[in-house]
Amino acid sequence: MAKGRILSGIQPTGNLHLGNYLGAIRNWVGMQKDYECFFCIVDLHAITADFINPADLTRATREVAAGYIASGIDPAHPALFVQSHVPAHAELAWVLNCVARLGWLNRMTQFKDKAGKNRENASAGLYVYPNLMAADILVYKATHVPVGEDQKQHIELARDIAQKFNHDYGTELFVQPEPVIQGPGTRVMSLRDGAKKMSKSDPSDFSRINMIDSADAIAQKLKKATTDPNALPESVEGLEGRPEAGNLLNIYAALTDRKLPEVVAETAGWGWGQFKTRLTETAVGVLGPINAEMARLMADPAELDRILAKGAEKARGVANPVLAEVYKTVGFLPST
Ligand code: TYM
Repeated sequence: MAKGRILSGIQPTGNLHLGNYLGAIRNWVGMQKDYECFFCIVDLHAITADFINPADLTRATREVAAGYIASGIDPAHPALFVQSHVPAHAELAWVLNCVARLGWLNRMTQFKDKAGKNRENASAGLYVYPNLMAADILVYKATHVPVGEDQKQHIELARDIAQKFNHDYGTELFVQPEPVIQGPGTRVMSLRDGAKKMSKSDPSDFSRINMIDSADAIAQKLKKATTDPNALPESVEGLEGRPEAGNLLNIYAALTDRKLPEVVAETAGWGWGQFKTRLTETAVGVLGPINAEMARLMADPAELDRILAKGAEKARGVANPVLAEVYKTVGFLPST
């Protein structure tokens, strides 16, 4: 018996990077045996920020799918699908737009970060983005949402929306989803600046390791990664005030499925050269095979599309009845 139902997703914008892998995908791979899983590629979310060339969006959508499968998501078991192939997400999002309060959305730090100073020029879609994310989760009555730390506030919002809907309509229809934020890779930082999150939108490609980077590119980026003048610490407490050292050690721990204290003990007193060599070998050892498998999968887009079509069918089978339940609860006149 499954321990619950998972829904999670990644935006097909730019390249998948090590933060997406360690904060999200690697955890999904570990959870897929125990949970009923829905993993989507959130293309509707991808058009909320900067304009994306349509051909790039199509390619990135397949690339994220390839990244999931190459990392070990079994396409035969979880529903692996594209968000826009399941219209119930967007339809439920409209209802949730009418449940969420402006005051709640105004508190979303990701909107503030992404809209920046030019708030007036941000799209309306970017503003209501968290309501669509809530719809992604609630339309499956998902119990668990494995994500990186940056998504926690959005899941809390989804919980508030679920609660308000249930309260307003006197129902138990929506399930309260639990965020699952676990392991040392929940907040991977930029390789250039330990105070900034690793992100697809950072203009410097040296700030991140992409899942499609070659072994040479990974080695070069880690060689240039910002460090500090001290040797590696003897204890976790020694990482205080050393964000770059903390970040690289957390990456090493996440890539080797160990806890931070264990890798700190292994590397105590090492110089940066020695550590970076070890980290490069480890990163290349993990990402190399994924990278090769992604390239193989991308060479056969028809096969990827077939997997995604099957996943969407499975997802619609669960989402459509939940949407129908919502429409009925709200009092929309049935169309038949
Ligand atoms: P997105 O596309 O920005 O990121 C996808 C996943 O990767 C995690 N992540 C990170 N984890 C650790 N360190 C980092 N530097 C890092 N950068 C990204 C994110 O936490 C996320 O788990 N709004 C979501 C996509 C979304 C979604 C959903 C997620 C849409 N609907 C429903 C879960 C459930 C987003 O923009 O993620």
